[in-house]
Amino acid sequence: MIQKKRVLSGVQPTGNLHIGNYLGAIRNWVESQAEYENFFCVVDLHAITGSGNYRLELAENTRRTAALYIASGIDPELSTVFVQSHISAHAELAWLFNCITPLNWLERMIQFKEKALKQGENVNVGLLDYPVLMAADILLYQADYVPVGEDQKQHLELTRDIAVRINDQFGNKTHPVFKLPNPLIRKEGARVMSLIDGNSKMSKSDPSDFSRIHLLDNPDAIAKKIKKCKTDAERGLEFDNPNRPESHNLLSLYMILAGKTKEQVISECETMRGWGDFKPLLIETIIATLQPIQTKYAEVINESGYLDQVLANGREKAAEIAFDTLKSVKSAMGFLI
Ligand code: AMP
Ligand code: TRP
Repeated sequence: MIQKKRVLSGVQPTGNLHIGNYLGAIRNWVESQAEYENFFCVVDLHAITGSGNYRLELAENTRRTAALYIASGIDPELSTVFVQSHISAHAELAWLFNCITPLNWLERMIQFKEKALKQGENVNVGLLDYPVLMAADILLYQADYVPVGEDQKQHLELTRDIAVRINDQFGNKTHPVFKLPNPLIRKEGARVMSLIDGNSKMSKSDPSDFSRIHLLDNPDAIAKKIKKCKTDAERGLEFDNPNRPESHNLLSLYMILAGKTKEQVISECETMRGWGDFKPLLIETIIATLQPIQTKYAEVINESGYLDQVLANGREKAAEIAFDTLKSVKSAMGFLI
């Protein structure tokens, strides 16, 4: 039997997931689920690198995020769903990586620079170290592919650099310590933009709720957000105009969610009188996409014991592989095993 290629990815359990997370990441996990051996973790250790107080929400957000994976179509029979902090090997491997990663590799990370600027005085060491922990998440499972949104590309390059460095220092040609993982970044949906500013990406940390559609938003909220989102009343519906990123973003969202080609959307738009015709169509399409996810989410959350069982099974399967890899890395690095 041919061994399936392995996939690993994760989302932080901060607040509510949005359609950027769905289109950039989770939808792609679901689509290739049968083809690969999959590991999807809720990266709760990453979620404590911000500046807020998370204590009262962390556990609940972790469950909600795992439930949203399943509601979006992740099948626990085909994929291992688990919580990052349940497997202590992640933090331990991150420490080993810390000691071979040059500081200036981390100081160059765009996401660190952006978040550090936002967090002002409240920048902890974990925020700088975030990509090293992410490298540990991926390399522990010897993942072949990592499906993510565009913003994670630089972190994946760093992951490969860390793997190469460990292989050079501690492996040998016939037995590299780590496999080099490849990013899987789909062109469409890899970078969904904010609904109120077409130049910045849709993000969980934007203070305005109107900047994003949450997967659990009700039809009313969806309609309000789309009606309010920035467009240019006097100007038409167009793709690819660099001066009108909002227009491009809304048309792209419709294209992806309705499963249409760009040409189909362009010709459909030609029959419309403007945003007044387009927005109701987009609202309807978003509601139709999210409705089955929301129905399934309610089932998952309400079925007593189900989610905990999925996470317990996931923990067991993930632990087996993770501790095995950790042991071989420690042995390669010269530790007393
Ligand atoms: P995060 O919300 O930072 O935990 O991101 C989880 C996943 O969603 C990662 O694969 C990101 O690349 C992806 N993602 C986050 N925001 C967006 C966005 N606006 N557009 C596309 N993908 C995104
Ligand atoms: N850094 C990713 C993000 O913010 C989340 C993440 C953590 C991740 N570990 C990962 C994604 C491992 C893929 C693989 O989007």
